[in-house]
Amino acid sequence: MIPIAKPFIGDEEIKEVEAVLRSGFIAQGPKVAEFEEKFAEYIGTRHAVATSSGTTALHVAILCAGIGKGDEVITTPFSFAATANSVLYAGGKPVFVDIDPKTYNINPEKIEEAITDKTKAILPVHLYGQPADMDQICKIAEDHDLKIIEDAAQAHGAIYHGKKVGSIGDMACFSFYPTKNITTGEGGIITTDDDAFDKDARAIRAHGESERYEHVTLGYNFRMTDIAAAIGVVQIKRLEEFNEKRIENAEYLTEHINSIEGIESPYVAENVRHVFHQYTVRVENGKRDELKEFLNNEGIGTGVHYPRTIYNQKLYEDLGYTADCPEAEKAAAEVLSLPVNPTLTAEDFGKIVSVLQDASDKIFK
Ligand SMILES: Cc1ncc(COP(=O)(O)O)c(C=O)c1O
Repeated sequence: MIPIAKPFIGDEEIKEVEAVLRSGFIAQGPKVAEFEEKFAEYIGTRHAVATSSGTTALHVAILCAGIGKGDEVITTPFSFAATANSVLYAGGKPVFVDIDPKTYNINPEKIEEAITDKTKAILPVHLYGQPADMDQICKIAEDHDLKIIEDAAQAHGAIYHGKKVGSIGDMACFSFYPTKNITTGEGGIITTDDDAFDKDARAIRAHGESERYEHVTLGYNFRMTDIAAAIGVVQIKRLEEFNEKRIENAEYLTEHINSIEGIESPYVAENVRHVFHQYTVRVENGKRDELKEFLNNEGIGTGVHYPRTIYNQKLYEDLGYTADCPEAEKAAAEVLSLPVNPTLTAEDFGKIVSVLQDASDKIFK
């Protein structure tokens, strides 16, 4: 099977983890601090606060932004559920705005009509590794005095108009889950230039302590371990190479897919670096699931990111959520992610293209 995702863990990561295990300092300690420093330097922010996952990073960022009961946060319905769940954790209300059908990211043209006097923040997602349209989002946030929290869980190293994502909003959250562009096993991080958010995030991730046994706010145990951070300090050195390989793989796929009937290759916006966390095609004529099955039978792993909008998930339906986001619903029925990860070989990509051609001949003709 050609896997849809596979982390690369080399000897150096293993050595770093072994050193941490032998040091006896295995909870949050000096490796976490080193990883935070390296990540902040890479993104270009003054601070980075590591957490136990991308989800807890989002939860902490939402709390730092002061979002609480009844506050509204504008976000996309076409993302992993953790994006919107982070707002629910704080007692807030995610408000879903439809996506741009080309980039699959939140459509800035539709944000303003969703703003009410309860709106506190915008939570855009850089889906699949492609930056959201941040110029427009920043302008709206400024006009309406809203905070921006970037969900950059899928976009380590993506660049929007010359700026790394993660350095554009008030805060940004990344995930280091094993499918992501770099991994720490489980893990997340918040990047920010704001000293107060940095201080609050550090308190909230560790029981709300200002110092040992001084609990100044309600916090959690959302700490990253030094074992995870040891993987991260090596992975961050590899990130550029991984991303370049993903981009090269994506270019190869696009070049070949463009001539295959029924399958639409991903759009890349002007003046951005898309880092292809996922290489996601659109499959026309209601044939997505048929193509998926064909590929899986031929040994090619695929994924559907995501098969339904967040407001169509049972959790949200039970909470009474409805929304009218036809582009997100259409995308949920048509998208299919193909393998693009840097561990794959030229032979793997040759096979993917030839099976896609075969599938198209059988399914679309
Ligand atoms: C867009 C998005 N947001 C948030 C998360 C949550 O990250 P984690 O799985 O590290 O908790 C993910 C990860 O799957 C994601 O893809």
